[in-house]
Amino acid sequence: MSVSEPVAVAQVNELEPESAIRIPADRCGATEDIALVRAEDGTFYAISDLCTHAEVSLSEGFVEGSLIECPGHGSQFCLRNGHPQMPPANVPVRTYPVEVRGDQVWLTPVPNPVEP
Ligand code: FES
Repeated sequence: MSVSEPVAVAQVNELEPESAIRIPADRCGATEDIALVRAEDGTFYAISDLCTHAEVSLSEGFVEGSLIECPGHGSQFCLRNGHPQMPPANVPVRTYPVEVRGDQVWLTPVPNPVEP
């Protein structure tokens, strides 16, 4: 599997709005586990599963609007650009391209450039 090609990682109906699942790296070709997130409005996002503050899985966090809250110490990350919105995390998480094709969600396992 090429690491730059989109990979089908989930069925659309696997995730309710405001929920997340962990996609293991070896299932999608990324260099890290990914949190696949469905926001309140139904939009899908993909970010690094690992919080940038400590080793906590963001896919076990809480989705609110277009943010995900780390279950470790409560930092919230923007799902669009990965930037933390409140401490203690102060480093963005990587984001990944994701798109819906029919009833499947496709992830490109190459991170987006970091937005300033
Ligand atoms: S581990 Fe995520 S905020 Fe501390």
